Amino acid sequence: MNDVVPRHSRTGRPEHPARVADPEPFGEDLQEESRLRPAKLDEFVGQPALKEQLAIFIEATRRRGEALDHVLFHGPPGLGKTTLASILARELGVEITHTSGPVIERPGDLAGLLTNLGPRGILFVDEIHRLSAVVEEYLYPALEDFTLDILLDRGPSARSLKLNLERFTLVGATTRAGLLSAPLRARFGVTLRLDYYGAQDLAGIVRRSAAILGVTISADAAVEIARRARGTPRVANRLLRRIRDFSSIKSDGTIALAVTREALRLLEVDERGLDDMDRRLLEALVTKYQGGPVGLNTLAVVVGEEAATLEDVYEPFLIQEGFLKRTARGREATPLAYQHLGHAVPATADRASRAPQQPELPLP
Ligand SMILES: Nc1ncnc2c1ncn2[C@@H]1O[C@H](COP(=O)(O)OP(=O)(O)OP(=O)(O)O)[C@@H](O)[C@H]1O
Ligand SMILES: [Mg+2]
Repeated sequence: MNDVVPRHSRTGRPEHPARVADPEPFGEDLQEESRLRPAKLDEFVGQPALKEQLAIFIEATRRRGEALDHVLFHGPPGLGKTTLASILARELGVEITHTSGPVIERPGDLAGLLTNLGPRGILFVDEIHRLSAVVEEYLYPALEDFTLDILLDRGPSARSLKLNLERFTLVGATTRAGLLSAPLRARFGVTLRLDYYGAQDLAGIVRRSAAILGVTISADAAVEIARRARGTPRVANRLLRRIRDFSSIKSDGTIALAVTREALRLLEVDERGLDDMDRRLLEALVTKYQGGPVGLNTLAVVVGEEAATLEDVYEPFLIQEGFLKRTARGREATPLAYQHLGHAVPATADRASRAPQQPELPLP
């Protein structure tokens, strides 16, 4: 996500504290985030169907003593794709090398990575939809036959050398499965989608994280954070850390419901978990464009955010919660968005919502 969402650097602070939807951790949060990351499948909360499948693949792979089939994780940011890749390595007792699509610039980089993997090792490629076409072509025989064609010299004297690789597993992660080329997608034996978490699972994650951070939290405060965390563990953890800071100054350091609500108000996270940017986006749609439809790029300019960030981070949640619709003609606000912002629902928006549905575009 780092390059797609350039707003936060790994060291910088966000320019606005209310922007909690952005999943990219920063500063000292980064160290805490690694402490909060579950290391084993048992510690991974929620996503039961996905966990069950993974547990079976892991056990079968262990028994056969082979490398796991190539795995693709896709879904919105902050739901646990990177975490699951590390869990796979740990459960299988193999080494993992982390890299990301845009970092592998040339076939040579890929050859270097693949020849240095340990036995049955995992190559984790984040943002795999951003692999260059040249690198992708080069990857295909490696995935299928575990061979690489190395080009020696250039020009008329060019020769190619076939190199046999050890068995390995490619684990890819993407927030945009739709941008993956069909041939690449077809080479993954296992494709798993991560969905937003329910409030109960998120409350479980908040309690687990609080225990690791050594703070006491009441059950109702954990549920309150969970309800407002956009279905996203990373957001839940971030809210917890901010609320912990707040409560250590404003109260005795234990996290109770009242102090949680107060901190969330300061962070401008509303009852439904929408933050400042979510509301600006919906507000622009409703007040400037009569509810839409408006093109994504126009919307991005109006709210001053990258189109890719809107599409990756903000829209999927707003769509899932029923505030926004993505149609072939652009983005549209739903009656729920009007209500949530405290505007009267115009007759047209109301009618449109009951009329035969404009086909919605699939999520990326
Ligand atoms: N199921 C879970 N149980 C407990 N904690 C979780 C779970 N899923 C994610 N987390 C926490 O949320 C954080 C974010 O998860 P992770 O980095 O794996 O997300 P991601 O899907 O790779 O996001 P991105 O698309 O931005 O790379 C992790 O550091 C971890 O602490
Ligand atoms: Mg990740």
